[in-house]
Amino acid sequence: MKRNSLSIVLVMAIVLTSVFGTSCKKQSSDSSVPSIPASSTSGNEADSTESSTTAQTSETTEAATPAPTSTPTPSPTPTGTPTPTPSPTPVPEYIEPILEGGPAWYNGYVDPRTVRAEVVSDPSDIAVLVNKYYASPSWYVPELVYAKYSDSQQLRPEAAAAWEAMHDACMADIGQDLYLISGYRSWETQTASFNNAIPRRGLDKAVCKNAYPGRSEHPLGLALDINIRSDPEIRDNFVYTEAGQWVLQHGHEYGFIWRYPADYGHITGYGVEGWHFRYVGTDVATEMYLNNIMTLEEYYGKPQILPDSYNE
Ligand code: DAL
Ligand code: ZN
Repeated sequence: MKRNSLSIVLVMAIVLTSVFGTSCKKQSSDSSVPSIPASSTSGNEADSTESSTTAQTSETTEAATPAPTSTPTPSPTPTGTPTPTPSPTPVPEYIEPILEGGPAWYNGYVDPRTVRAEVVSDPSDIAVLVNKYYASPSWYVPELVYAKYSDSQQLRPEAAAAWEAMHDACMADIGQDLYLISGYRSWETQTASFNNAIPRRGLDKAVCKNAYPGRSEHPLGLALDINIRSDPEIRDNFVYTEAGQWVLQHGHEYGFIWRYPADYGHITGYGVEGWHFRYVGTDVATEMYLNNIMTLEEYYGKPQILPDSYNE
């Protein structure tokens, strides 16, 4: 009986020692501040996932008792990201500059700087009238593509396609290789062109041949200064050459008009330019051709008004 009691006491002592010893280890481990694997601070989602998986596997292997389920930290309720209200693209106001004391005329050609032009409401209109009295706004830059049969000249896509078609038809009809010398010009280029022309050729000739910025069709991407490839210079006599005559006869089929004909300077405000053609689309060009309307000013019923003193 005594031996039995002793045995029972011994067995109980062994069991108690074993149980309390394991729990302490585990407790000690649980109470320590968990170290953050270096990789989990990287901010790289793949690295972070990989580390936590490794840690969990190791913990599962070590623990004799099931690991307590950790209380998940409640993730914050996502607050909806406010959708920003798109603000409308501002269209800058363009105010035409003007020199006081005008209008100033030189041999029937007005200095555009002395005329307050009306800024056109839709510069992208393919048949828009732009001259000394109707200006395109300085902010307007059309969509542009590189034109064939030129040295990196740009045009609006509609004008470029029509130019290519007209070139190919002219080549097929009469074997003349039309060439685009100057297409789109930026506002800055047009400004430099006008400003340089005054000292170079004199104010009277500059206002006859060079357009003030805003008063030119080139920044519309719809004007083409042309000749043939073998003579890539602007020439007043182009319209009297075989190629020029063909363009006068067939240009409207592709949407082109001769923009500054001889003897119409009093209406257009510019002297004759045998090289300058304008894309206006086939409807307007054909209507003008069939009705023998020589200028876009007459087509719109807006010819330049000369001063009373002009014929004196
Ligand atoms: N030479 C024409 C008028 C222009 O500069 O647009
Ligand atoms: Zn031109």
